[in-house]
Amino acid sequence: MDKTLELECTERVLELVRNRTSDLAPTPYDIPVDVYLDEERAHRERERLFRSLPLLAALSCELRNPGDFKAIEIMDVPILLMRDRDGQVGAYLNACRHRGMKLTEGHGTSTRLRCPYHAWTYDNQGNLTNVPFGPESFPGLCLEEKGLVAVPCQERHGIIWVKLDRDDGPLDVDEFLGEMGDDLATWDIGSWHFVNSKPLGANANWKLTAEGYLENYHVGALHAESLAQIAKSYYGCARTPFGDHQRLVYANHMIDTLVDIPKEEWVSFDTGAISFIYHVFPATMMVMFFDHFEVFQIFPGKTPGTSTTIQNLYTATELVEYDEKKAMQERFDFVYMLVEAEDYWAAASTQAALLSGANDTLVFGRQEIALHHLHDTCFKHLQPAFEPA
Ligand code: FES
Ligand SMILES: [Fe+2]
Repeated sequence: MDKTLELECTERVLELVRNRTSDLAPTPYDIPVDVYLDEERAHRERERLFRSLPLLAALSCELRNPGDFKAIEIMDVPILLMRDRDGQVGAYLNACRHRGMKLTEGHGTSTRLRCPYHAWTYDNQGNLTNVPFGPESFPGLCLEEKGLVAVPCQERHGIIWVKLDRDDGPLDVDEFLGEMGDDLATWDIGSWHFVNSKPLGANANWKLTAEGYLENYHVGALHAESLAQIAKSYYGCARTPFGDHQRLVYANHMIDTLVDIPKEEWVSFDTGAISFIYHVFPATMMVMFFDHFEVFQIFPGKTPGTSTTIQNLYTATELVEYDEKKAMQERFDFVYMLVEAEDYWAAASTQAALLSGANDTLVFGRQEIALHHLHDTCFKHLQPAFEPA
């Protein structure tokens, strides 16, 4: 990681720990519970946040070579990412132009994709190249007009971004990320190595699941037997906003060992004294550790009370030894279990209790400042509430 950024963030976090505090908003923040329950609100979020803004669909390392592809579902939209022979990545709807079957699933490598149903075949630029018995069966069929339907896509900072709304112009990831782009660029994300990916459903609104990544106030209580053994609770969360997005740096207990060491000798990131979360609005969480990276893609479900998270794990160097691979797989499983059994258990419990009517509003404390930002940014994008007639 970037040494200047590491030292700057360590200093800030250490200062917060010394003062037994975290970055604070001026006042607490009330949020109406309707934002987690209302159908119309959920519809607008899907349209204006998740269909209109760029979304992280994959990292470049998942499609490292020409011919590599990845199929992913985003809010029930099947997307196919393919790297063509020139090294360019394209995104398409993963739906055959004959009778609509998905062409493939997961990751793979092939210069041609053949539909399993009747063998219509496409190249890795989405062009339809072969239709069995075409001249007799489909007289007049124009292959050029039956290529896969393209989805706006851009590869930037080692990340493949897509936009679901195909009528809303091309993607501009630099504009979308603003200054956070420079920060992300320091992580050399294109050189990472893919380890595993797995979806996790939750009976909770996507914002409730997202909130768990954005404050460490809950660590001591909810994660008393797990994360709290490593990470500090309440203290030492330094937040930096980048437009709609934000970066959080969390203090781990290891940071206490730095107190008596001169700044020039600090090795805070590689020793696990601090960890980073990049929150790419609306709900991609990139959690950075010294040897591996966890990327959580959070999407709304069909109803306000459901969501899906895709958990991904990447490493800084390629794992070769069996023991290394086994250890990283165990890490993946541990995080999945922790998120499911603790964070998303709390989120689902909250969602269920919201329906009781006990609370008209919920309240975020001053230290839950990143949640103020998440909700403010949602409100900003969702205004005006209704289009003028
Ligand atoms: S649905 Fe794909 S070839 Fe028929
Ligand atoms: Fe948590």
